[in-house]
Amino acid sequence: MNTTRTRRVVAGAVAALAAVTLAACSGGSSGSDDTKGGGGGAGGTVKVGFSQLGAESGWRTANTDSVKAAFTKDKGFDLTFVDAQQKQENQIKAIRDFIDQGVDAIAFSPVVETGWDEVLQEAKDAEIPVVLVDRTVKTSVSDPYATYIGNDFTKEGETAVAWIKKNAADAKIFELQGTLGSSAQVDREKPVDAELGSQIIGKASGNFTRAEGKAATEAALQAYPDMTMIVSHNDDMALGAIEAIQAAGKKPGTDIKIVSFDGVHDGLQALHDKKFNYVVECNPVYGDQIADLVKKVVSGDDVPKRTIVPDEAFDQTITQETIDARKY
Ligand code: AHR
Repeated sequence: MNTTRTRRVVAGAVAALAAVTLAACSGGSSGSDDTKGGGGGAGGTVKVGFSQLGAESGWRTANTDSVKAAFTKDKGFDLTFVDAQQKQENQIKAIRDFIDQGVDAIAFSPVVETGWDEVLQEAKDAEIPVVLVDRTVKTSVSDPYATYIGNDFTKEGETAVAWIKKNAADAKIFELQGTLGSSAQVDREKPVDAELGSQIIGKASGNFTRAEGKAATEAALQAYPDMTMIVSHNDDMALGAIEAIQAAGKKPGTDIKIVSFDGVHDGLQALHDKKFNYVVECNPVYGDQIADLVKKVVSGDDVPKRTIVPDEAFDQTITQETIDARKY
């Protein structure tokens, strides 16, 4: 066990002992909120700062709901949650505030991959463990975070490519990219470019939002009148694309096929309604797993460096029952 871990475990044990002593003196029960969780903070409660990158998509809303449901007082957490509105500078400020507040752990979903060196070094110097969520970072800081949890975006891209090769091998593709420089965009795009590069007739970013997906598609319909497929890096942009395609007098799913990522309720409904052709899931509901990792990291327990949330994929045979039964 390293020095930092030892410090945190000792601090946690002292705090837990103090809480039990206090409960005994006041005749209280040792099962109170204060003694649950076994964390590193005062009274056994784990103080966590979570910097969410934004609220740009249905996926993000589901992820945020899952995080908030997992990091409750009842479960032993004192959560400070900050929405960065898709701005890296807001995330860096939030992380610095968490460091100043002396939280037990920082969790964050980085909006883009690069530009985190300084703030990650600051968290490291303050001996505050970082749990990286959803997207990954590229940094020169050594051992910059305790653990990462999220989906395998490269594998998601490969799954989309396999379906396209089998079902629409001669498609002329317009690629609707997510936020440029985010690992979700970079990693999904890699296999698409590598395997289908010669079929890609154009690309533009819709920043993972429905409005920007619609605007980018409107422009693409003008610029690339021969397109027969849109590969959209998320459902929200693809839902915006549907509106643009219909406004142009074309039929989404038929005149222009749509392959998308996420599997949010509205996206899967569009698939069932034959407006989308294929959806690769990106499951956002893993707040409990993040919370579990945070507790382990704060307690000094060993954790895997990388935890991958499993994803499925759906075609137009999806049933209404499957859609209705989904959590997001
Ligand atoms: O990082 C995950 C991606 O971010 C999701 O695919 C997208 O909907 C979200 O905005």
